[in-house]
Amino acid sequence: MKKIILGENLEALASLPDAFASVIYVDPPFNTGKVQKRDRIKATRTTGEDGGDRGGFGGRRYDVEHIASSTYADSYDDFEAFLMPRIEASLRCLTENGSLFVHLDYREVHYIKVALDRLIGRDRFVNEIIWAYDYGGRPKNRWPAKHDTILWYALDPDDYVFDYDAIDRIPYMAPGLVGAEKAAIGKTPTDVWWHTVVPTSGKEKTGYPTQKPLGVLSRLLKVHSRAGDVVLDFFAGSGTTGEAAARNDRGFVLIDRNPDAAAIMAKRLASFEPELVGFTRAGDGDTAATAG
Ligand SMILES: C[S@@+](CC[C@H](N)C(=O)[O-])C[C@H]1O[C@@H](n2cnc3c(N)ncnc32)[C@H](O)[C@@H]1O
Repeated sequence: MKKIILGENLEALASLPDAFASVIYVDPPFNTGKVQKRDRIKATRTTGEDGGDRGGFGGRRYDVEHIASSTYADSYDDFEAFLMPRIEASLRCLTENGSLFVHLDYREVHYIKVALDRLIGRDRFVNEIIWAYDYGGRPKNRWPAKHDTILWYALDPDDYVFDYDAIDRIPYMAPGLVGAEKAAIGKTPTDVWWHTVVPTSGKEKTGYPTQKPLGVLSRLLKVHSRAGDVVLDFFAGSGTTGEAAARNDRGFVLIDRNPDAAAIMAKRLASFEPELVGFTRAGDGDTAATAG
């Protein structure tokens, strides 16, 4: 199953079958109180001696174009009241040995952890995965907040997918202490995953605000699902979960209510030929998404 749904997730979830997904991963808005956007600038080198808005290295001149990004609102008076009914509605879609991953940051994660314990049961909580990165500004009046938290719940704490052999290896911090053979193989990561943010330039970047790195999702899906399984993400944004799933021979169901997100996903995942639901096609079969 490969499907992208443009729509409000609470409604879209109701249209999905029972027990089809072995993993649910969600990266909802973080309740930052802002509108999320990632405007970019594109610099093009000019040929003339004078022209160009901006000077660069070696006296070169560049024209600078400002590119407005997609946006979505990220402000909730009662975030728990927004998120929890959606998670509750999704649990029906999980297989009996399925896992739920909820990705948040310091603003809401503690409140949602307690709410999830109440909803799913504290005994089903398995890990708190910390995704640590090191990018962006550094305030001088507190420790820079440079991590997100991914809460992992297993529906059956005695039977869940954790494919140890599928875990990627990372370098030892002190390879000299473990011997050459072990150092060459590397070690498995802990529950703290150091991984860079999506590079600001490069193939992975879609321009969608708050896009998560493919590397983080790939590790998660390789270890917590099997080839042929289906993964559900109902706050899908640019479709990182879908790309990680498809590249690793998993299916995906992705939901987002933002037409810009849906259009980016349709383009990003076109080669995997997903079914598009709630889209209206504009022009000659291009994938511009409008609320359908
Ligand atoms: C943090 S972003 C997801 C980013 C994504 N993980 C990625 O890598 O691109 C959260 C997304 O949730 C979507 N969203 C918020 N509320 C929603 C709702 N009620 N139904 C569907 N989508 C929603 C927003 O449009 C936004 O794209």
